[in-house]
Amino acid sequence: MIVAGNWKMYAGPDPAAVAARVGAIGGVDKIVCPPYTGLASCVAAGLATYAQNVHWENEGAYTGEISPRMLLDLGVAGSLVGHSERRQYFGETDAGVARRAKAALEAGLSVIACVGETQEQRDAGDTETVLRIQVDAIGDACGSHERLVLAYEPVWAIGTGLTATPEMVEEAHALIKSLLDVPVLYGGSVKPDNAEVLMGQPSVDGALVGGASLDVESFAAICEAAAR
Ligand code: PGA
Repeated sequence: MIVAGNWKMYAGPDPAAVAARVGAIGGVDKIVCPPYTGLASCVAAGLATYAQNVHWENEGAYTGEISPRMLLDLGVAGSLVGHSERRQYFGETDAGVARRAKAALEAGLSVIACVGETQEQRDAGDTETVLRIQVDAIGDACGSHERLVLAYEPVWAIGTGLTATPEMVEEAHALIKSLLDVPVLYGGSVKPDNAEVLMGQPSVDGALVGGASLDVESFAAICEAAAR
């Protein structure tokens, strides 16, 4: 089981407090994804630390980007790629996401690559097609790499308090695993009170948690649910 906390563009909790609270929870890999400016202090606190994005080159004229080597030099273990907010607000494409994931894996980072349909796509009956296109782009570039994890995050469930039903989650995860044989996390309004049932689905290997990871106690409660 893996529980990753995506702090997005929030300062987040005190890394030492997170480490002290979740450190002893066994049987689950606990990861934090702070903004770039918080990476060093999370690493220093002994947390498994991922960036929220990573470029494909190790250096170059790419204003505003951070390279795999820069992250490794900081002691960062991995990165998210393809989060729906990157796709929605910053124009990231399936091809770019695949390129970022491949380069990060080749450099030695672990990767959590995010996929998921919008409400419009679900309503139109296009969920399966969308997931196939997104997963195949990543799979064609990376294969089932041992440091690659996918996250299924239905866009309509992110930050909305709407959660996919356990049946919807299981169906999507089973499809994703049939396309690419890697662990798959669920993300989208995971909270302490729904974490256990969502992570109890057979094809769910953990959670990618946004809002609830900003509070040490609720993040710890989700890690404890994963451990059970
Ligand atoms: P949420 O965010 O838990 O706040 O819905 C999840 C994510 O975007 O990774």
